[in-house]
Amino acid sequence: MALPAVLANLPLPIIGSPLFIISHPKLVIAQCQAGIVGSMPALNARPASQLEDWLAEITETLAAYDAAHPDAPSAPFAVNQIVHRSNDRLEQDMAVCARYRVPIVITSLGARTDVNDAVHGWGGVVLHDIINDAFARKAIDKGADGLIAVAAGAGGHAGVKSPFALIQEIRQWFDGPVALSGSIATGGAVLAAQAMGADFAYIGSAFIATDEARASEAYKQCIVDSSSDDIVYSSLFTGVHGNYLKPSIRAAGLDPDHLPDSDPSAMNFGAVDAKAWKDIWGCGQGIGAIDAIVPVAERVARLRREYLAARARLCAA
Ligand SMILES: Cc1cc2nc3c(=O)[nH]c(=O)nc-3n(C[C@H](O)[C@H](O)[C@H](O)COP(=O)(O)O)c2cc1C
Repeated sequence: MALPAVLANLPLPIIGSPLFIISHPKLVIAQCQAGIVGSMPALNARPASQLEDWLAEITETLAAYDAAHPDAPSAPFAVNQIVHRSNDRLEQDMAVCARYRVPIVITSLGARTDVNDAVHGWGGVVLHDIINDAFARKAIDKGADGLIAVAAGAGGHAGVKSPFALIQEIRQWFDGPVALSGSIATGGAVLAAQAMGADFAYIGSAFIATDEARASEAYKQCIVDSSSDDIVYSSLFTGVHGNYLKPSIRAAGLDPDHLPDSDPSAMNFGAVDAKAWKDIWGCGQGIGAIDAIVPVAERVARLRREYLAARARLCAA
């Protein structure tokens, strides 16, 4: 199946994934101008009325950039909506997205036909994130256009499946757009995602260690200094299993190697405890490849160089 027009012909097959608290217009704009899809959770705009200002800033800045760079325009942007019942802002945030005709909506935590219909109504495309094949089928049944396969080792709420298993299963029955999420931080890994059947690499943690990310310097430096050994998978902090940096857990007075499990009924995203994410740092396993805090443009330029080099190497072989 051909990719929807908004996702076709990106200069690099990369989506900068939405990051709670961390993604904001500055990061999204830098990602889009660097030629990858930039994204942010609607819930990062607080109070809710700020979403309108943020979408105005992103659309106006990118339009001006495109007018000045007609030969290399920006990539499209995406807004992430948590469609879980505890998100009491969903209706209001969707109305703002409709006014700005947000080109790509990334939905998380439960697929919803009404949300998909609304996005299609303004000409947008919906990508739904899933951690297994059953959720993938449900999402497509309910009208999502594409899937984000969140594999083991992803930052934030990660799955437990090998990326090979997930993509192989999905590609048995689905030929629409698929992005692969989890530990991708080099151009070679982006090419590998494509080789195994994904259309896009979905990259989060590598963009936390950038100048434009809205994270503390300590968090960014911790990503530079850490590797996969420093990541722990736990449900303690939000009720859903996710990957976190051990040093931040130690700093909060807990032993990251002996964490209790949490009660899933505690899951709450509308009034999510931002402090948990502010102090307990979400992060995927792929950060061993991140060795400096750099501007987004530099991180994307390195991904591009590595991607082209890996492709040339394989073609030559
Ligand atoms: C700190 C942090 C916050 C995140 N917040 C969100 C979020 O609000 N919504 C969402 O759909 N995914 C969220 N994610 C998951 C990412 O969008 C993505 O799936 C993941 O970062 C990809 O794996 P990687 O970090 O190994 O590249 C978050 C991830 C991290 C690390």
